[in-house]
Amino acid sequence: MSDRALHIDEDRCQGHAMCFVLAPGLFEVDDEGRGTVSGTVIGHDDEARAQVAIARCPERAISLRPV
Ligand code: F3S
Repeated sequence: MSDRALHIDEDRCQGHAMCFVLAPGLFEVDDEGRGTVSGTVIGHDDEARAQVAIARCPERAISLRPV
């Protein structure tokens, strides 16, 4: 499988914080309380946590994209 990277759509993100609560090693929060992607490429070990964050974001702002 090709590598994939997390992406947050800044126009959709409303700062609900589920991403960095559920996967703090993969996401961080910026000065305005919005999620940022701290780990660019997602390895196999991080895939499950990334998928949980994607599923729980109320704004559907998070995606995994091929790199
Ligand atoms: Fe934003 Fe969704 Fe995280 S709204 S802060 S990407 S849970």
